[in-house]
Amino acid sequence: SRTIRLAVVPGDGIGQEVVAEGLKVLGAVLPADVKLETTEYDLGARRYHRTGETLPDNVLAELKAFDAILLGAIGDPSVPSGVLERGLLLKLRFAFDHHINLRPGRLFPGVESPLAGQPEIDFVVVREGTEGPYVGNGGSLRTGTPHEVATEVSLNTAYGIERVVRDAYRRAQARPRKKLTLVHKNNVLVHAGHLWSRIFAEVGQEFPEVTTDYLHVDAATIFFVTQPERFDVIVTDNLFGDILTDLAAAVTGGIGLAASGNINPSGEFPSMFEPVHGSAPDIAGQGKADPTATVLSVAMLLEHLGYAAEAAKVEAAVAADLAERTGAARSTSQVGDALAGRVSG
Ligand code: IPM
Ligand code: MN
Repeated sequence: SRTIRLAVVPGDGIGQEVVAEGLKVLGAVLPADVKLETTEYDLGARRYHRTGETLPDNVLAELKAFDAILLGAIGDPSVPSGVLERGLLLKLRFAFDHHINLRPGRLFPGVESPLAGQPEIDFVVVREGTEGPYVGNGGSLRTGTPHEVATEVSLNTAYGIERVVRDAYRRAQARPRKKLTLVHKNNVLVHAGHLWSRIFAEVGQEFPEVTTDYLHVDAATIFFVTQPERFDVIVTDNLFGDILTDLAAAVTGGIGLAASGNINPSGEFPSMFEPVHGSAPDIAGQGKADPTATVLSVAMLLEHLGYAAEAAKVEAAVAADLAERTGAARSTSQVGDALAGRVSG
C-alpha cells in the first residue's frame, strides 16, 4: 500500500476553513490502499505574534521530507505588510525552488462570466516562481528624508528563464491547441525582456509543433478581457504572472475558484499547492469562504503525485457542483461535504 505524506499549513483567516474542506475531499477520493498521513504546521500570524517566528529553520528542514505541502492562505492586518509574505510564503517558494507557479484559468460550464457572451476560457499560466522582482534585491537610501530612494531590482537569469520556458513549451506541446504566448514588456524592460524573448525563440526550435505568440503585458490584460479564448499556455515572469492570474481568476468565476501549484518538477523538494486567494480577514471564521479553489488545488496536488484518475474525479466533482449552483449561499463546509460526497459516490 502507498502512503502520501502531506504537510498542511492552514495559515491565516479563511485558510483554516478552506484547507479543512480540501482535506475532506482528498480523504474521500483516495483509494482504500492509499494511506494519507497529514502533519499540520502552525505558521502564520498567530505563530508570529506568539514567538516572533515566520518560518523557523527546523520547520523548513522538516518540511523537506514531505511528498507535498497544502497551504491555505497567509497574511493578516495585524502583521506589517510583507513580513509573512516574504518570511513565510515566498521563503517556502524560494527554499523549495518552486520555479513553476502553475495557475489554470478555466471557465467551467454553468459559471457565469463577467465578460460579454460566454467565451470559452481554458488556458494555463506558467508563472516563473523564483526570480524577477520577487527576489528582494533592493534597498532604501536616505530613509525618511525628502530625498529617499527605493529600488527593487528584477533578477532574470538565463538558467531560470530557460527552465520555465521549456516547461511551458512541454505543456503547450501536450495540449490540443499547442499554442504558447510569452508575456513580457520587452519594449521598456529591454534587458530582461530581450533575454526572455531570445530564450523563448531558442527553446522554441525544439518544439516545431507549438505555435508561438508574444504580447506586452498591458496588451495581454486587454485580451484577457476581450478575447480570452485566444490563450492556451502563457509563460511569463513572476510579477506579471501574479497580476495576470488575478485577472484570470476574475474572468473565470472569481478568486474563489482559482487554484495553483508551486512546483519543483525535479521532485528534489516538495511542491506546494494553494488557492490563489488570500486570507480574506473580512469574512474569516464565518463559514462563508468558497473552498472550491482549495479543492481544485488538491486536484493539482493529486496530479503532481501521480494520481491522475483521482485528480480527474475531483475536477469532475467541482464541474458538476458548479453546473448545479443555484446562487443560494452554502457554507464552506456544505460545499466541502457536497464535493466529498461526489468524489466518493
Ligand atoms: C499570490 C500572492 C502572493 C504573490 C503574495 C501573498 C506574496 O499574491 O500567491 O499570488 O504575490 O505571489
Ligand atoms: Mn497574487
